[in-house]
Amino acid sequence: MCGIVGFTGITPAVPILLDGLERLEYRGYDSAGVAVVSPREGLQIQKCKGRLQVLRDKLDSQPPLTGTAGIGHTRWATHGEPNDVNSHPHVSQNGRVAIVHNGIIENYVEIKQFLLHKGVTFRSDTDSEVVAQLLEYCFNDHTDPLDAVYAVLERLEGAYALGILCADRPDMLIAARKDAPLLLGYGDGESFIASDATAIIAHTRDVAYMADGEVAVLTRAGIQVFDEYRRPVEKERHFIEWDVSAAEKGGYAHFMFKEIMEQPEALRRTISPRLREGQVAFDELAMTAEDVRRFRRIFIVACGSSYHVGMVGKYNLEKLMRTPVEVALASEFRYSAPLVGADDLVIVISQSGETLDTMAALREAKSLGARVLSIVNVVGSSIARESDDVLYTWAGPEIAVATTKAYSTQLALLTMLGLWMARCLGRVDSAEYAAIVSELEALPDKLAKVIASTDIYQYLASLYFNQQCIFYIGRNLDYALGLEGSLKLKEISYIHSESYAAGELKHGTISLIEPGSLVMSLATYAPLLDKAVSNIAEVRSRGADVVVLTTEEHAERMGSIASHVLTVPGTHPVLQPNLGVVPLQLFAYYVALHRGCDIDKPKNLAKSVTVE
Ligand code: M6R
Repeated sequence: MCGIVGFTGITPAVPILLDGLERLEYRGYDSAGVAVVSPREGLQIQKCKGRLQVLRDKLDSQPPLTGTAGIGHTRWATHGEPNDVNSHPHVSQNGRVAIVHNGIIENYVEIKQFLLHKGVTFRSDTDSEVVAQLLEYCFNDHTDPLDAVYAVLERLEGAYALGILCADRPDMLIAARKDAPLLLGYGDGESFIASDATAIIAHTRDVAYMADGEVAVLTRAGIQVFDEYRRPVEKERHFIEWDVSAAEKGGYAHFMFKEIMEQPEALRRTISPRLREGQVAFDELAMTAEDVRRFRRIFIVACGSSYHVGMVGKYNLEKLMRTPVEVALASEFRYSAPLVGADDLVIVISQSGETLDTMAALREAKSLGARVLSIVNVVGSSIARESDDVLYTWAGPEIAVATTKAYSTQLALLTMLGLWMARCLGRVDSAEYAAIVSELEALPDKLAKVIASTDIYQYLASLYFNQQCIFYIGRNLDYALGLEGSLKLKEISYIHSESYAAGELKHGTISLIEPGSLVMSLATYAPLLDKAVSNIAEVRSRGADVVVLTTEEHAERMGSIASHVLTVPGTHPVLQPNLGVVPLQLFAYYVALHRGCDIDKPKNLAKSVTVE
């Protein structure tokens, strides 16, 4: 939540900050602001409620802010309503420092009380402002900005990524990080900070990821990094593999649509390098077959769509490995005194690699002695760095708040992991192993077939975009798939939607079905097709319209009982959700389009959830 960008160099900072904020806007979009510092003008700030365009318009209507060092922020409000005053950057009482902050300062009330007693006047309702005010207060005892910053950090509790400007140091930018993402960018005569690489990729692909407790001092001459005890740190530098075009819409109306269309290629990148001579090969894993044989149980821990991947994974891994698998919401796991120990494997799934609840669950699992393997999209992210093993999904940057290609690649990778572990345990026979590998190879092409035409989804959306509520029902893997279909619809179209295990309908929910209700019946899981047919009959006889999603092979049978049929090519059952999810993504997309929703930036949401 919230996006930060910072720059120091020899060219004007504002255009670079605005360009960076545009690419970060998916992280939060309640308000935006920039601050720059110049030798003549000191600190200059512009910030306002609303989307970045509002800020751009304000800046265009005034003389340009001069300064070659600056910080920018796009906000997802936690403390204090979205308004101009609560927007970042925050400036200290006497205008000596300006800060941008991502995270939550948990002891802000205590610090605020302390400063109020010292006569400091506050302007905003935010937790973040205390950082600016405390920093200026610490300048009473410290003349060196870095001394003052360390004095502040000592008193802060909670999570922060900070960008700091000082009025009397127009060439310098200071950054600090604890439990919130921040990276450093190394340019030619210029240096950057950013919440993620998309913000600075147009200027440099040479980056380093800040670790918790680190503080960085950036000037145009370079970047110095210190650890929490102020010892110099030599950072490992990474080269970002993708270029700026990957983070742009490239002619598509929405990032979400672009990312749906990118799924065949994303899957190819995830799958191909890990298939060799008919075998799944994970060169990147330190985990051995011996380790796998030691695991008594597997836990899959994640949030949102990544959790839904875990739900599919439970069915698949238990089927393939015959090892018990428990799926937990990360936000619940950490507070449930989980019965996890040294003989367990905890698989953590996260696109961003920064979700706070997932991170906390990971730490809980590690503290209990479990081995942690993460499936992550963002290279160098906190979750990746703290895991014992990491499998990267290689989906490329995902900008739309609603995940699509990250979900697909997580799903494929988790199934591959299950297959690999099943082979380590000797629990999958060669014929089935070969069949799954062959279907993994075919998966990108089959998915390309699903997205080749979108007419049917547009048509169905035109029929049903005014529904009050849409139900998703399915059994086994189709139930897990429905959870994702339902979330996709509600998060971008704001239609209320529920997903049920179809067998549960008659235990209560069927009372909600009435003439005209729309039920999406997911019937791609071949072993339970007869059961799906019965459930369809139950809701049809109560007047519901039923859209059935099934495989090409069963289209005719389903066509005779449904209002409409959507089909996907057949594949091995463990991979079927990988194809089934795409029509659900497209249906949600076109429904949201019909309703005029802001598809890439749905209300109240943010891409990366770095607060509890
Ligand atoms: O980055 P993560 O995968 O950890 O994010 C978890 C959820 O916040 C995320 O999947 C969310 O549910 C998506 N916006 C859904 O489309």
